[in-house]
Formats: sequence, C-alpha cells, structure tokens
Amino acid sequence: MIYGERIRFRHIERSDLPTFVRWFNDPEVRENLSVYLPMSLVSEERWFENRSQSHPDEQIFGIEVPEGDGWTLIGNCSFFGFDRRVRSAEIGIVIGEKPYWNQGYGTEAMQLLLKHGFETLNLNRIQLLVYETNPRAIRTYEKAGFVYEGRMRQAQYKNGAYLDVLIMSVLRPEWNEPQA
Ligand SMILES: CC(C)(COP(=O)(O)OP(=O)(O)OC[C@H]1O[C@@H](n2cnc3c(N)ncnc32)[C@H](O)[C@@H]1OP(=O)(O)O)[C@@H](O)C(=O)NCCC(=O)NCCS
Repeated sequence: MIYGERIRFRHIERSDLPTFVRWFNDPEVRENLSVYLPMSLVSEERWFENRSQSHPDEQIFGIEVPEGDGWTLIGNCSFFGFDRRVRSAEIGIVIGEKPYWNQGYGTEAMQLLLKHGFETLNLNRIQLLVYETNPRAIRTYEKAGFVYEGRMRQAQYKNGAYLDVLIMSVLRPEWNEPQA
C-alpha cells in the first residue's frame, strides 16, 4: 500500500473489473475520458490480461478511502508512456464513484502520484492531457501543482464538436511535496 493523508493506493485485482465496467459505462464519468463506447466485462478482462505484461512501474493503483472497518474503492490512477532516458511519464486518473467528486480526493491522489513518481520512480517530468471542457479536472491538477503548458487544437471530438486538449506538467525541481 501507498498511504496518503485520507487515501491509499493498492494494486488493482481482477475482482475490481466489474466495478471499473460500471464506472466506464456511466456517460457522466466517461464524458471527459478517451473512452467513447460502452464497455463489456469481456473487453475489460482482455485489457487486464494485457496489462499484466506491462512494466511494473505502469501498474494501475486503486484509490481507496477508509469506511467503517475497511476501505472503499473510489477510483484508479496510473503512470504510462514512460521515456526512461528522458525520465518522463504521463499520468491519468478517474474517480468513478461520483458521490466522492469535489471532496479533494482527486487532488490528494494526484499529489500522492507525483510523490511516487518523483521520489520512487525517479522521474524528472510528469505530464497529463486534459480536455478544455473539463474545468474540475484542470482545477484539480492546478491544485496538485501542474502548470499549463500548451494546447492541441481540435485534438478530440465529443458530442458532435471538436475540442482542444491541454497539456499540463510538473518538473521535479519545481515540485513541492505537500505538507501534511
Ligand atoms: C477530475 C477528477 C479526478 C477530480 O477529482 P475530484 O476529487 O472530484 O476533485 P477535487 O475535489 O480534488 O477538486 C475539484 C476542484 O474543482 C473545482 N470544480 C468542480 N467543478 C468545477 C467547475 N465546473 N468549474 C470550475 N471548477 C470546478 C472544485 O471546486 C475543486 O476546486 P476547489 O478545491 O478550489 O474548490 C474527478 O472528478 C473525476 O475522476 N472525474 C471523472 C473523470 C475525469 O474527468 N478524469 C480526468 C480526465 S483528464
């Protein structure tokens, strides 16, 4: 486990897949993700098998919060697209349980992921892509320390319209570990 102040990361398990399918089949959750079609459990199981061949650094973390005597899975996040020579990688996140939106969990997960990326994976640059139509995510990333870097014009197509995709990043020298 990797522990934050109010959350923890754990490795995802095959038994989590029905939960992921439920999240990604919710149009509101999918709205700002590259997923654009309904998802089946079979396709998710195939994806899980393929993921097991990935480098361990690219493992997907389940984001959990304490509840009662146990922990509840509310989302997932991961690193991908590593360039080992340049020491850079990309990150992605989804909080799939909508009642947990806007409570600071996404910000804390991004802060914990940055700490892991810089202090464990020894990255120098961490970047992400976000749709211009997703102000909640943009605000979340700003709070975690990401800075706006550029805009890919009309790089996505959703709901009958093109939209711009923003690039945001954090460099190791400018990153300040959040104080608990
Ligand atoms: C995007 C996501 C990760 C953010 O996590 P979260 O836990 O909901 O976010 P937080 O509570 O940490 O922070 C949200 C911030 O956005 C603000 N916000 C929410 N809706 C907003 C809106 N429409 N316009 C501007 N700001 C908004 C909140 O007020 C809060 O900022 P504040 O603390 O300054 O008030 C999560 O909502 C999610 O997974 N959404 C669905 C999938 C998705 O969009 N993933 C990201 C793809 S790039």
